[in-house]
Amino acid sequence: MHTLKVNLKKRSYDIIIGNSAIDILGKNITCLNIGLDAYIITNPLVKNKFGGLLSKTLKASGFSVRFKTVPDTEKSKSLEEVSRVIKDLASYDIKRKIFIIAFGGGVIGDLAGFVASIYKRGIPYIQIPTTLLAQVDSSIGGKTAVDLPEGKNLVGAFYQPRLVLSDINFLKTLSQRQLCCGLSEVIKCALIKDPQLFLYLEKNYKNILLRKNSALEHIVQRASQIKSKIVQMDEREEKGIRTILNFGHTAGHAIEAASNFKHYSHGEAVALGMLVAIEISRKMGFISNRIFERISDLILMAGLPTRIKKINLNDIINAHYHDKKFTGDKNRLVLIKGIGKAQIVKNVPIGIIKAAIKKRLLQN
Ligand code: GLY
Repeated sequence: MHTLKVNLKKRSYDIIIGNSAIDILGKNITCLNIGLDAYIITNPLVKNKFGGLLSKTLKASGFSVRFKTVPDTEKSKSLEEVSRVIKDLASYDIKRKIFIIAFGGGVIGDLAGFVASIYKRGIPYIQIPTTLLAQVDSSIGGKTAVDLPEGKNLVGAFYQPRLVLSDINFLKTLSQRQLCCGLSEVIKCALIKDPQLFLYLEKNYKNILLRKNSALEHIVQRASQIKSKIVQMDEREEKGIRTILNFGHTAGHAIEAASNFKHYSHGEAVALGMLVAIEISRKMGFISNRIFERISDLILMAGLPTRIKKINLNDIINAHYHDKKFTGDKNRLVLIKGIGKAQIVKNVPIGIIKAAIKKRLLQN
């Protein structure tokens, strides 16, 4: 079991990582003194698989438990769902001291965190992420949000959880595709900050895909540490430090949007976005062919897509313009100057960006 601390003065919290970490949840919540009534926001699948276990461990420590399930789709990140959840929460909240538990993947974490941030002007919440993507990324950092028809994550707040508990056992039942998607964000962490983690991934990707405990625990711990350190330095994204977490996300988001969020999951789109970013990094003379090849090999070995299918170049380029940091030749991209060395680069020629995307299109 590992415990990491996210140091944010009064808003500091622990991240507990380990196999069967859920067993020590009750004790840890008791220490936080945040209430006795757990309102668990989850989806039907997670509730079915692990709801009994969570309920049992909470009740054994004296907590009351109420589950609220929402559909397992991005559509749950809506103001309509927020309103439904808050009404249910208010009906339960009679002479109670409630805290929220976000129990699921990124959608659940974003929705539950946002509800916690606005209900009664803020009540405590805990993240119990059940996907690799959520364990290494969305459960840490305090950005909460829901979508509008006009765009993703347009309504939100910075609101830190009081505890993150990542139980490695939850990763054992993920689909292989979900596991690979999470691995994409782990590779991103290695590329922006941690050459040792990159070496580890090169040597151990098979053990990760086979879900060996020690390999899963290692990557969740390292990636969580990297994300926490970055968040500590720039909690509210005001200093430009958090920007490096967007490595692979500019082209990745454009690929997701151009395919109407249908063909690729977030992690897959980020993998393609990282391939575009390393191609630009190579073209700008920042990395060698050898480094380029090692990174693209790892992405391939991690079971992630390396070719963009069924989308055309213009749609991807046009989707880039929705990013406020992108107005054609005037842009700010996160590139790398080596493994573990992220660099924000301004005004990359649009021709280089287009060529890098074109190289990834299947028809080329
Ligand atoms: N909740 C995700 C983040 O803050 O980055």
